[in-house]
Amino acid sequence: MIDMEAKDKFTLGLELPTDPRWINVAEKNIEDILVDHAYCEQKAASSCISLIVNYPEMDAIVDALTPIVAEEWSHFERVLEELKKRGYTLKRQRKDEYVEKLQSALKKGGSRVQQLVERLLLNALIEARSCERFKILWKNIPDQALSLFYYELMVSEAGHYKTFLNLAKRFLPEEDVMERWRELLEQEAEILKTMEVRGDRMH
Ligand SMILES: [Fe+2]
Ligand SMILES: [Fe+2]
Repeated sequence: MIDMEAKDKFTLGLELPTDPRWINVAEKNIEDILVDHAYCEQKAASSCISLIVNYPEMDAIVDALTPIVAEEWSHFERVLEELKKRGYTLKRQRKDEYVEKLQSALKKGGSRVQQLVERLLLNALIEARSCERFKILWKNIPDQALSLFYYELMVSEAGHYKTFLNLAKRFLPEEDVMERWRELLEQEAEILKTMEVRGDRMH
């Protein structure tokens, strides 16, 4: 069931709302948006797998992220179906400028746990922004079935965002995690401001 209050929710603390011009260009580029989105889901699954194989001794990571790998992969499969329904194919992946810029904002070095927390917060940030974009797609895409799919994803990615943020708080004190989270939110807003508004990309 659709939660109509979702209109004002699901912005998850982000500092900068998406430029309103994005949806105007995105809805005219559904093929590119779907291809780009498919890769976002693939990368979300890959990123969780990478955390599991890099931190296998941490039960909290393995237990929380294993089901997310399956969910992200099912999202990937569903985006592929949406492409096929429309007679499109996957095509090659484009350079992910947004994620690359976010990665360069992460702190290098530090302890193994600090590195883990940086990565968890990066994932939380990407989930939060994806969730905000799905909300925009849900509200604006005229194709009813596709709009409903985006609604479902918005709810699912909001859950992942919470999981990543809560996981981070299990490894470092909450005040430290939240301070770093606020810094990253500001950096993410700065990064988005420098990026061109493109309708062929999710971010
Ligand atoms: Fe997903
Ligand atoms: Fe997700």
